[in-house]
Amino acid sequence: MKVLVIGSGGREHALVWKICQSPMVQQVFCVPGNGGIAQEAVCLPGETKNLSRLADLVVEIGADLTVIGPEAPLVAGLADELMARGLLVAGPTKAAAQLEGSKVFAKQFMRRHRIPAADFEVGEDRETASASLGRWGGPVVLKADGLAAGKGVVVCSHPAEAYEALDSLLSGRLVGEAGRRVVLEQKLAGEEVSFQVLTDGKTILPLVPTQDHKQVWDDDRGPNTGGMGAYCDEGILSENLSRRILDEIVLPTLEGLRSEGIVYRGVLYCGLMITEEGPKVLEYNVRFGDPETQPILFRLRTDLAETLTALATGHLQPGPLSWEPGASVCVVACSAGYPGEYQTGKSITGLEAAEEEGAKLFHAGTTERNGTLVTAGGRVLGVTARGPDLATATKAAYTALSKVHFAGIHYRRDIARKGLERQHPL
Ligand code: AMP
Ligand code: GLY
Repeated sequence: MKVLVIGSGGREHALVWKICQSPMVQQVFCVPGNGGIAQEAVCLPGETKNLSRLADLVVEIGADLTVIGPEAPLVAGLADELMARGLLVAGPTKAAAQLEGSKVFAKQFMRRHRIPAADFEVGEDRETASASLGRWGGPVVLKADGLAAGKGVVVCSHPAEAYEALDSLLSGRLVGEAGRRVVLEQKLAGEEVSFQVLTDGKTILPLVPTQDHKQVWDDDRGPNTGGMGAYCDEGILSENLSRRILDEIVLPTLEGLRSEGIVYRGVLYCGLMITEEGPKVLEYNVRFGDPETQPILFRLRTDLAETLTALATGHLQPGPLSWEPGASVCVVACSAGYPGEYQTGKSITGLEAAEEEGAKLFHAGTTERNGTLVTAGGRVLGVTARGPDLATATKAAYTALSKVHFAGIHYRRDIARKGLERQHPL
């Protein structure tokens, strides 16, 4: 079969890499891809916002399955466009993608279906939002309603900070139109876990839980990023807590969608806070997490092309996915300045030496220029390694990363530390 992957980041490189391993797959295409993906798949130029052009392309290349990586084309309705033409797609419809596309929709949906989450109010405009903030007692989190690439959330410690954040959201300064409507949310305390499942709307196959590292600097300091690294091992969640997450969050979410006439086919990502009262949803994503997908797929034994095809046809087989035992870790190497303004075009060396260490380098912001690989984004590479335990996997990732060089490279030195220090699963 032929598979087309949509997107250009580290997540898509991991998807392409894993799909290429399937004996069912003859050829993998990627639109638009990146410098690393181009070494493993046929990259085609394309604007991921132009839905009908993308659907034409799927027909032209004869792709038997399309896997949509990023949220924007899902929220815009690419899955609907492909399904309307009778094409197989792994990714939810526009109606389902509102769970990520609108924080107001997601919060109201969770309230309707009694899914545990932080209390909230909606600020429809400056007047109602300021009034809500005036009444608000205690710390507040402000969120832009629309898609904002991780930049639309401000966790506020003081009222002055909250008024300032509100103004920068509503004025459009922070994230443009996405922030014209806001959610005010109770601030939750606890540890964050990314819990993802594959589902065809009926059968649910959990992926191994992971922890992301959102802030740019060690010890969770500095501004939020798209994700500076992630890890997974057996020790993040107890079996009991995983069960509760499935029963209290994942199942009610899918049942809630079904009761509203929406069948969810794709990856459902629940960004959770594990609070003293139990797991609560911070956010839904309607696609694979980035960088969580890199360490997850590095441990997956099951044939992903076969599984995603079954998902797309509504015939996902029950029974757990198969995993390499132990742990995996992905450390993201970034351009100087990221998550603020950064430069591109810096040549990258040491990739082969790094992979000789047994690591896999999933490319995010890279491109080829005159035969050499250069930086082309804020997050450049996700150096991913596996091991029998978390300590070994972490050491392997950092050893491999020490071989990689480009001007201005920076990365966190403490990826997976929470896991290494944890005595018992959450
Ligand atoms: P979101 O995009 O909604 O996941 O928010 C981005 C990040 O902001 C999360 O990963 C958390 O670190 C933080 N955050 C979001 N909502 C809350 C909340 N209600 N309480 C505490 N932190 C939050
Ligand atoms: N790593 C968080 C996300 O994919 O949104």
